[in-house]
Amino acid sequence: MASLFVLVYPDDRLRIKAEPVLQFNAQLKQEIKDLFETMYEDHGVGLAATQVNIHKRMFVMDCSENKSTPLCFINPEIIYSEGEALSEEGCLSFPGVYANVSRTAKIRVKYLNELGEAQERAFENLESMCVQHEIDHLNGITFIDHLSNLKRVRLLKKLQKQQRQAL
Ligand code: NI
Repeated sequence: MASLFVLVYPDDRLRIKAEPVLQFNAQLKQEIKDLFETMYEDHGVGLAATQVNIHKRMFVMDCSENKSTPLCFINPEIIYSEGEALSEEGCLSFPGVYANVSRTAKIRVKYLNELGEAQERAFENLESMCVQHEIDHLNGITFIDHLSNLKRVRLLKKLQKQQRQAL
């Protein structure tokens, strides 16, 4: 297993739209393992393949407190949405900055697991927000795209400041 390099904004590769996964082979298995390892190492609750420059429609997620609920979503599709919820989001591609984002409260998702088996599950709260955030990544969308211009500019200034301090 290997921890992968996470692309950081404004890397253009974060804008690439991912392609559906068609082959469940050893390479895919390794990529999923690496995604999990990278997510846990970087203390994220979700990580999309796009963020590690793999442009396949898949992401991993674990929103549990003790990191005991690893979930892998391949070719995910939201098939039902209900309500609205505002919650604070962060992203490993935007280290150190957070913003309130309005999303659908409850969703139902159809996807394949790492074995290629069809799954369908309902999510709410943090998990629902996370699934929507990660599916956005697969479409080249990041959480700052949901903010007003003013809030986005403010957040990007803060991000630049953090990046300068990190040098
Ligand atoms: Ni993210």
